[in-house]
Amino acid sequence: MNNQEWYTNAFEEWYPIVYQHRDEKEAQQQVEFVLSKLNFQYNQKILDLCCGYGRHLFFLYPKVSFLVGFDLSLYLLKKAQNFLPIKISLIRGDVRYLPFSQESFDIVLNFFTSFGYFDEDKENIRQIEQVSFVLKNKGTFFFDYLNPAQVEKITNMETEKIYQSYIIKEKRYYNKNKNELKKEVFIYLNTQLIKSYIEKVKVYSLDEISSIFSSQSLSIQKIYGDYNGEPYTEESPRLIIIGEKNE
Ligand SMILES: C[S@@+](CC[C@H](N)C(=O)[O-])C[C@H]1O[C@@H](n2cnc3c(N)ncnc32)[C@H](O)[C@@H]1O
Repeated sequence: MNNQEWYTNAFEEWYPIVYQHRDEKEAQQQVEFVLSKLNFQYNQKILDLCCGYGRHLFFLYPKVSFLVGFDLSLYLLKKAQNFLPIKISLIRGDVRYLPFSQESFDIVLNFFTSFGYFDEDKENIRQIEQVSFVLKNKGTFFFDYLNPAQVEKITNMETEKIYQSYIIKEKRYYNKNKNELKKEVFIYLNTQLIKSYIEKVKVYSLDEISSIFSSQSLSIQKIYGDYNGEPYTEESPRLIIIGEKNE
């Protein structure tokens, strides 16, 4: 893995600040949604893939006996260690190379657009292949992605927010040829630029995701458009898929 890859820089100390609105309150609602839609049992084995600082793990741990958080960011994993009230297994690694044996988990959760980070399709597909590999037969994959049908609407959007003495500017671009959503983040202190980095997500249509899932023995059971359980449409804020592993 190349340390210059954008995802090795974007999930550091500024990430929880830039995404302050992606907080524990939101995570609690999302976990409640997952609990209501999935057939959770206390003795099941659950993997939170790309767990970040553990905001979902926090609400999941009282519900299951075997919970693992996995992420690449050492910064966020350390933050998770401090944030979580009990010791939960937190493992560092790359989604393309999961260090778990075949059929280790009953449920794999992938919250908040933690997919599409690689330039090459085959690398993104490898992430799903790994999910399928570690899932038991009939196991569940919960996949929460941006709504590809909404992406063109945010083309060339620029936003600004203030955090303490800092100004955070975010510029978004959609490259139709590459099917890539790119965001540049600039952090200023007293008009001086102190940090900038990029984020990139490969935008896959629902049809493309469906064919990736089926190529990896995952059948789509349900599709939602948000965490209220509304059906998915082109106007939905999210694309949420519940998949089942079928050998
Ligand atoms: C958008 S954040 C979502 C975090 C968490 N699911 C949440 O909702 O708070 C994406 C996460 O993916 C992790 N990540 C990025 N690239 C990764 C990779 N190649 N392998 C494993 N994790 C990765 C980041 O460190 C980050 O925590």
